[in-house]
Amino acid sequence: MTITDTDLAAADATGATPPHPLASLSADEFTRIRDIVTAAPDFTETTRFAYVGLDEPHKREVLAWQNGDGPLPDRRARVMLLEMATGRSTDTVVSLASGAFVSTVVLDGSTGQLPILVEEFEAIASIVADDARWVEALTRRGLTVDTVICVPLSAGYYDFPEEVGRRILRVLAFRMDAPHDHPWAHPVDGLSAYVDTATRTVTRLIDATDLPVPETSGNFDDPELQGPPLDTLKPIVITQPEGPSYTVEGENVSWGNWTFQVGFDTREGLVLRQLAWTDAATGASRPVIYRASIDEMLVPYGDPSPVRFWQNYFDTGEYLFGRFTNSLELGCDCVGEIHYFDATMADELGNPTTIRNGICLHEEDFGTLWKHSDMFTGSDEVRRSRRLVISFFTTVGNYDYGFYWYLYLDGTIECEAKLTGILFTSAYPGLSADGADYPYASEVAPGLGGPYHQHLFSARLDMTVDGIANAVDEVDVVRVPVGPGNEHGNAFTKGVTRLTTEGSSGRVADASVARAWHIVNSEKTNAMGRPTGYVLLPQESPTLLADASSSIAKRAEFATKHLFVTAYDPAERYAAGDFVHQNPGGDGITKYIADDASIDGEDIVLWHTFGPTHFPRPEDWPVMPVDYAKFTLKPYGFFDRNPALNVPAPASSHAAPGAAGADAHCAHHAAADPAHPHH
Ligand code: CO
Repeated sequence: MTITDTDLAAADATGATPPHPLASLSADEFTRIRDIVTAAPDFTETTRFAYVGLDEPHKREVLAWQNGDGPLPDRRARVMLLEMATGRSTDTVVSLASGAFVSTVVLDGSTGQLPILVEEFEAIASIVADDARWVEALTRRGLTVDTVICVPLSAGYYDFPEEVGRRILRVLAFRMDAPHDHPWAHPVDGLSAYVDTATRTVTRLIDATDLPVPETSGNFDDPELQGPPLDTLKPIVITQPEGPSYTVEGENVSWGNWTFQVGFDTREGLVLRQLAWTDAATGASRPVIYRASIDEMLVPYGDPSPVRFWQNYFDTGEYLFGRFTNSLELGCDCVGEIHYFDATMADELGNPTTIRNGICLHEEDFGTLWKHSDMFTGSDEVRRSRRLVISFFTTVGNYDYGFYWYLYLDGTIECEAKLTGILFTSAYPGLSADGADYPYASEVAPGLGGPYHQHLFSARLDMTVDGIANAVDEVDVVRVPVGPGNEHGNAFTKGVTRLTTEGSSGRVADASVARAWHIVNSEKTNAMGRPTGYVLLPQESPTLLADASSSIAKRAEFATKHLFVTAYDPAERYAAGDFVHQNPGGDGITKYIADDASIDGEDIVLWHTFGPTHFPRPEDWPVMPVDYAKFTLKPYGFFDRNPALNVPAPASSHAAPGAAGADAHCAHHAAADPAHPHH
């Protein structure tokens, strides 16, 4: 059924509430978008939807509407269309209300290609199977097209003349010995095919080396490999007999003093919107973050092998990792009182499709929130910490990534990436003639290599700390030399440097000086007359390790620093640019900072790169225990005092259930005894 303008008008006439301007696109809206787009004359049987997402209104318009100073912004969708037969690629914005095409840009390939389609991935095996050189290379290794699986990978951008303007994927093969045999254990090294997915041809075959296919097992789900079960673990049961402490209405969530909206996008996955803290005394809502997401992630490999030098995966921009969001299972992925949000998106034919339980919301006990036993007053107080967890998991080929946002009762916000799944493997070349280890991979199982690589996540943090007039100060500890005023040499202080323009906003973390970035409001002050603010606390880990002259350094300038700050621009959405697949570089952050706009007291966006550099371990094989990377945002002068004083004292479970005093609070265990201080 086609929804017409008349239907929409009729829906309005019934008094149905129109969606919030930032609400995730609904299944009905995806259907409406499909109908608008497929009715266009240049839409054909072989046109595919590479991306459909909300084209967000300008922040100014949204805030004006919320303040009652402006109209409800027009609801628009961004649609990227790939004509499979010709490779013609367009980037279009359509109005859901009018059905009009607001804008259409035709890509010429010089600024990158549209994201890779699942349909292109699926075509790879038959394309290479039809290539005599590929078959011959397999035959020489004692393999056939039926005994290997083909892994299609993003091509990067190199000066190969035959690739200019064409949609290219690179292919590596892995031997699969049985229907449930994990092929990642058996890389067919030294062999790679470069494929044009539009013409369905192999443009180049690399047949570099003959390394033996590793024979180790990767079958982590095989009881034989697992060994005797660990049978000493008793159940841990999490119950909330009175139910959870959050409330959910549509995408709106409130919990403690926090309010926000949960959004979903095919490219970025989970999006947090309009995160704000409600002042308990005044009821005023104080904004902190307008929009937060993982806008890009890059996995660059450090192995210069002739079949791996191009391994640089942009899991967000090239692969749209949101579409691989897992459907989560209660009791397995998440425990406790869970609220799930479904994730709705368009498939490559434009039809709405829903991932059930794509986003998980729940509370966790988190140990001690604050505590003191006072020796002079006898005061003995403890409060328990808890956090609200908003998370999703996505599987991108061999790796599985979880992204967890945590909100705490004391105003702290954290984002944690969880990395698990299976290493991308190689055949380990063995020791060199002089007995040295291969310098670019670990041997993780006999004969099996785990090439060195990085996981560099970009968090786009569109900050609104107490409003849109924000600035960033870099704060370092500073050693003070012995001298007048510091005669004993014990002094240290802090150095504060305001980041004033985009061009100088690229900053690197430095744990040796406890470097942190304070996001302050340039107009609002706290009780001490100082700017209200939040501080971004990075984890120190290497930025992009590839050489500055490399292709990947040009394509991922965002990853060469831990922080960039830009003036808000609704067109600046992704750290590596909009069209990352085969993008030659100079896009994204490089472009966004080029005009060197002021970021001092403006509406600003922080781009924070974080994530581990990975020398794989034997213990990461055959499936990797979760590794973690995170950053923290803490209130710093945002409040006038500890904002969690009003958290009620917990009930003691010391007394037996039902006995008198069973609900006694956890206090007054220690008598004050100033005569015997413990410190
Ligand atoms: Co890794």
